[in-house]
Amino acid sequence: MTKIVLFENIHPSAHAVFHAAGFTDIVAHASALGNEQLLAELSTANAVGIRSRTQLTKERLAAAAHLKVIGCFCIGTNQVDLNAAMHSGIPVFNAPFSNTRSVAELVLAEAILLLRRVPEKNTRVHQGHWDKTATGAYETRGKTLGIIGYGNIGGQVGTLAESLGMRVIFHDVEAKLPLGNARPAPDLATLLAESDVVTLHVPAHRSTENIINAETLAQMKQGAVLINASRGTVVDIDALHEALQSGKVSGAAIDVFPAEPKSPDEPLRSPLVNMPNVILTPHIGGSTMEAQENIGREVAEKLVAFLQNGATKGAVNFPELPNTPREEDAIRILHVHRNVPGALATLNNLFAEHGLNIASQSLQTRGDIGYVLTDVAGGPVDSVLEALRQHSFTVRVERFHS
Ligand code: NAI
Repeated sequence: MTKIVLFENIHPSAHAVFHAAGFTDIVAHASALGNEQLLAELSTANAVGIRSRTQLTKERLAAAAHLKVIGCFCIGTNQVDLNAAMHSGIPVFNAPFSNTRSVAELVLAEAILLLRRVPEKNTRVHQGHWDKTATGAYETRGKTLGIIGYGNIGGQVGTLAESLGMRVIFHDVEAKLPLGNARPAPDLATLLAESDVVTLHVPAHRSTENIINAETLAQMKQGAVLINASRGTVVDIDALHEALQSGKVSGAAIDVFPAEPKSPDEPLRSPLVNMPNVILTPHIGGSTMEAQENIGREVAEKLVAFLQNGATKGAVNFPELPNTPREEDAIRILHVHRNVPGALATLNNLFAEHGLNIASQSLQTRGDIGYVLTDVAGGPVDSVLEALRQHSFTVRVERFHS
């Protein structure tokens, strides 16, 4: 029986997926565990589900003798030694798209609030002032939204913005299919010069580091607003602070920072703190109840597809094979090997020597790992499994039970 151990209060939507697929041996912990207890759980688990607080280091993975697969019920996977997992034949899954809509909605809300100067007005009313004026307040309708990074979130933001009547332009390093009436800007400088709202949806990378800096801020339209709910490295905060003080940028909403507090009681240290025209949020762009539920379902479905069929589509550290149903009456054999010349031929010779006929087979490699799923018919498989287990190129071999 497959034992699934879940840490860190994973959403009930995951349990529902496991139960529906017939996996009932589930141990769930409400929080991350200390080292000793964690090692004890890892030693008997076949599948584990974690969030960001459980570190699966090389040493801990070495103690997880029966572990077949890891699910990170979150976006990031830095908490797992992905390379060590790969070399132990353990695929790692995450949920990269589950909170796309949550980020997009927040960005749209912030665009509306900033164009209406709500952050300043809210502060003034709380302070006892009643500045009832339309000066500097605008609708989003007819304004231009410039999206830097037109990927999953950027595309979603553009689609929602069009429903408000915004004109959408974008800049991306890759050619992207424009959704709705969105159009690619000829270059970043044109996007910045034409946009009333600029929003960033790029990954953290050398090419995106301080992509918004004194020079690019100077290229922005006078009085435009800036939103960053992507990564803290992409905006030069000191340069933004200056642009806000001079009025070049009339407002900003920032969800991610170059250095973020490590605990709930640690204050954010930033020159933007206490600026009335700045919305500051604690990296909650993707944090909604819906996103948590989606993450639970998405990752659990990936774990089930692997545990039932060996599917690794979407794995972050592993050769990807799709979720194909097993051939009727066939036995599926999973084989992870060192990616050396002749590995597949050796594997197939072993099948032939043991009188097994191959009904279907798929191979994928990634770096120094090869992954093969073979559906075989024609005889008992135990002897071939043993021969494969003994072979020097084998990292892992498993048989899927029907
Ligand atoms: P994605 O990978 O789907 O899209 C990123 C896009 O940026 C791609 O189209 C890529 O080609 C483009 N890009 C890369 N380098 C570029 C450059 N130098 N200039 C212009 N475009 C460039 O990623 P997704 O899912 O849309 O996420 C976007 C960002 O949002 C990521 O940094 C992610 O970490 C962050 N994020 C933040 C959350 C929050 O809570 N605030 C939650 C979820 C994601």
